[in-house]
Amino acid sequence: MAIQFEDKFKRKFYYLRLSVTDVCNFKCTYCLPDGYKPSGRKNSSFLSVPEVKRVVSAFASCGTSKVRITGGEPSLRKDFNDIVQAVASTKGINKVAMTTNGYRMESQVAQWRQAGLTHINVSLDSLDPRMFYQITGENKFSNVMSGIDRAFEVGYEQVKVNVVLMKDLNSGELPAFLHWIKDRPIQLRFIELMQTGEMDSFFDKYHKSGVSILNELIANGWIPKVREANDGPAQVFIHPDYKGEIGLIMPYEKHFCESCNRLRVSAMGKLHLCLFGEQGVELRDLLQEDTQSDALIERIQTQLQTKSVSHFLQDGNTGMTPHLASIGG
Ligand code: 5AD
Ligand code: SF4
Repeated sequence: MAIQFEDKFKRKFYYLRLSVTDVCNFKCTYCLPDGYKPSGRKNSSFLSVPEVKRVVSAFASCGTSKVRITGGEPSLRKDFNDIVQAVASTKGINKVAMTTNGYRMESQVAQWRQAGLTHINVSLDSLDPRMFYQITGENKFSNVMSGIDRAFEVGYEQVKVNVVLMKDLNSGELPAFLHWIKDRPIQLRFIELMQTGEMDSFFDKYHKSGVSILNELIANGWIPKVREANDGPAQVFIHPDYKGEIGLIMPYEKHFCESCNRLRVSAMGKLHLCLFGEQGVELRDLLQEDTQSDALIERIQTQLQTKSVSHFLQDGNTGMTPHLASIGG
């Protein structure tokens, strides 16, 4: 290994979140309420497969073992299988995950698995089809549910399901979600709503702390799972009567950033040290030839020294991030 990516606070970076497109076909109220709007750039300007390969190789040679492919909706890329294959075939990468809205999962998950995708996170904000529609703007509840079933059929042992917790919308669904995961090996992850640049009153209206869920879980016999060294910021709970697990992602809690082990690269080829608060560092000029890898690694390592200790979201910082589709959650 050349060097190990590490910041001033001794955090090591094992995990790259790589966005491959900003485009999405859903209109989640907390992300793209008016749907995806092209910003005058052509889709062809998203990272190409060779560029993906180069950026992933650089990270892999400095300690990264896990890549999550994000978006927008990554499966809208016509060459998505090639992207998965390029990542999966990179030496040192042993986990290739994606985050998807599940829209194409039923029809495509078998191909994804064949291309080398090892882990899937799918967003499902409600178990009530009408509420699902209200939150995502798409009547695709049953597609997503069938997609999850199909993922198990083609061999995934566990599927992670993301639920963005929102007051009065889905905050009363804990019992239904628990019932759903009783006999299914699903890790259901409640994510606290995060305030982004384009959100105004939405955040104040719907933000709910995950602490109420935490208390309810503990009162009902759920126990914290022992954390492993490379675990991210989710707190995971297990229960002897349930096949599924519950994860809580509470970015507004103190110490959230201490376990940060991830870096992000946007679909336009910019390095983001944090979800919030900066414009990103151009990497694309160094993704054009294989011979540029040393310069690429050096630029990433130098930038890493400027990574901040925390996102300071709790102080009202929403940074530069207009919505998470622009940087891949
Ligand atoms: N707050 C919390 N989670 C969000 N996501 C998108 N926008 C937000 C937000 N503002 C989630 C999506 C998806 C994951 C990639 O990020 O629901 O599950
Ligand atoms: Fe699309 Fe994901 Fe944003 Fe929803 S949260 S609009 S599925 S990118």
